Amino acid sequence: MCGIVGYIGHQAAGPILLEGLQRLEYRGYDSSGIAVVDRDGALAVLKRQGKLRDLQAAITEMPAGAAGIGHTRWATHGEPSDRNAHPHASSAGDVIVVQNGIVENYRELKAELQETLDTEGRTWQSDTDTEVIPELISRELAMGRSFEAALAYAIGRLNGANAIAAVHRTDPGRIYAARTGSAGGIVIGYGEGEMFIASDLPALLPHTTTVYHLDDGDIATITADDLRVRRSDHASIRPEPRQVDLDPVAIARGPYRHFMLKEIHEQPRALSDTIRGRARLDPASALPDDLSISDETLRSIDRVLVIGMGTSLHAAMIGRWWMEQIAGIPADFDNASEFRFRAPLLGPSTLVVAVTQSGETIDTLGAMKHVRDRWGAPQVVITNVEGSEATRQADASIIMRCGPEVGVASTKTFVGSLAALYLLACRIGRVQGRLSDDDLSTRLEQLLTAPSLVDRGIQRGERCAEIAQRFGSAANFLVLGRGIEHPLAMEAALKCKEISYVHAEGYAAGEMKHGPIALLDQDFPVIALAPRGPLFDKMTSAIQQVSARRAPVIAIGDEGDEELIDLVDHFIGIPPAPPLLTPFSLTPVIQLLAYHIALARGLDIDQPRNLAKTVTVE
Ligand code: F6R
Repeated sequence: MCGIVGYIGHQAAGPILLEGLQRLEYRGYDSSGIAVVDRDGALAVLKRQGKLRDLQAAITEMPAGAAGIGHTRWATHGEPSDRNAHPHASSAGDVIVVQNGIVENYRELKAELQETLDTEGRTWQSDTDTEVIPELISRELAMGRSFEAALAYAIGRLNGANAIAAVHRTDPGRIYAARTGSAGGIVIGYGEGEMFIASDLPALLPHTTTVYHLDDGDIATITADDLRVRRSDHASIRPEPRQVDLDPVAIARGPYRHFMLKEIHEQPRALSDTIRGRARLDPASALPDDLSISDETLRSIDRVLVIGMGTSLHAAMIGRWWMEQIAGIPADFDNASEFRFRAPLLGPSTLVVAVTQSGETIDTLGAMKHVRDRWGAPQVVITNVEGSEATRQADASIIMRCGPEVGVASTKTFVGSLAALYLLACRIGRVQGRLSDDDLSTRLEQLLTAPSLVDRGIQRGERCAEIAQRFGSAANFLVLGRGIEHPLAMEAALKCKEISYVHAEGYAAGEMKHGPIALLDQDFPVIALAPRGPLFDKMTSAIQQVSARRAPVIAIGDEGDEELIDLVDHFIGIPPAPPLLTPFSLTPVIQLLAYHIALARGLDIDQPRNLAKTVTVE
């Protein structure tokens, strides 16, 4: 979603803001802009629809000034256009704001502010909800309030989750940031005689690793060498910064053509790091040190509900299998955005597991809040971002150690969340006495083979490229899987949609004959996930039914599986895996297929259209 940057210091702000925005491009956007004020209060606001390069091309002269804010916009209210791009100024031109989030009551606020605008003979400059924010602040300033007080007032009037950065034209010695609700983070970075604002760490890393994350309700007043924060209880503090342990190299593309390809290749490492120290064999234990939910609580639960969105929802579906088959406990999964509005019967004996790589997805956070407010059920979050909002809401966190994921499509964080779910299932099974020491040891030994399964799957890249060349122009794909491979069929279809813009449906193979089979003909390729396992024969029956309709079948199955090879038109071999571990061997192949189809179609793989990396609006 929208990206925010800010700078104040001894250098020219413009180039630093543009560079920061470049590092936030991965979040997904459709327009961008910067505002810079110089010492004399001269203001330059430059904004453009399109890519950052369109903005850069439009800048004939870099504005002077050592304070400013910048933004990449992902349109919610008002189409992507120059006019709707941020920053937005108050009608008096004194307050300039960028925002991430939605002002849910903007109509009401616009109506309230209309009178002032009419009196002054001014009009709204955009179709956005954002514009009410600088207008509210400006009105309060005109009544003699300080900027900080005016900003606090404005924030208090907004419904919805919002993150904001602002500058005051007549006071170029300060920039401001504020956060209300879960609209994605705001991080303040400390430099030498300069300070930075960003929605996410990658924008700061080239400059500093000393940071402070704003909390919900915080209002930050930032000068070139100081940060003061007014908390939601009105207390004013000088916060303690912390060091982040992130290497700028982790967010560089290196020799890879795309971040997505780099991150697919990083999966074995991401998995090993996530598992390290959490799968002990002698004596066998899973997640021994880092689960702050007591064994007593885990012993008392009689059900697990796993929730998430998108790729994280597919991980949740696989998690359900492991909860049932490894932990031996009744389990379910749910789409977080739907779950919030249902009235399921939970209670303190249901453990809710939220999966969210970013830890900031608004639908998942909303579902977690719903669980806490309504049932008080214990919650564990599985996330890649330490300190994210989800970690603050949950009773316990399992942090994947995948390193920053820059490509919009989730890849390495998918396998990272799978590893965490598997470990959690092992821990629950052991604590509840359903897994003996030996069983636990066997399960964990199997998990330890996951990095190598993924690695061997990655080696099939060339074969995936061949298949992509052959089918790159297909208009549709049906992806079939059974059992634990069904969620992977859905994940394969999601990857095709988001990266390759191909219409694809992931189906449980048994469901195919109940409708989708009507679509099939020689122009409708079917991808069959068919590793050997308990449902292999049922999968081959489905394949026969597809072939009988002359639809070309691309099977992904165990290396050297002659029976399958004879049955299908095209074959991609993956390493044989124990039945519950096939998600690890299949995942890199389904990702690489979508990647190569997108490549064959010449698409923008790391920044697919309309998508955002962190979805902070409903
Ligand atoms: C797909 C993808 C999205 C996310 C979804 C949830 O590749 O990236 O579908 O999986 O937006 O995001 P998180 O995991 O951050 O909650």
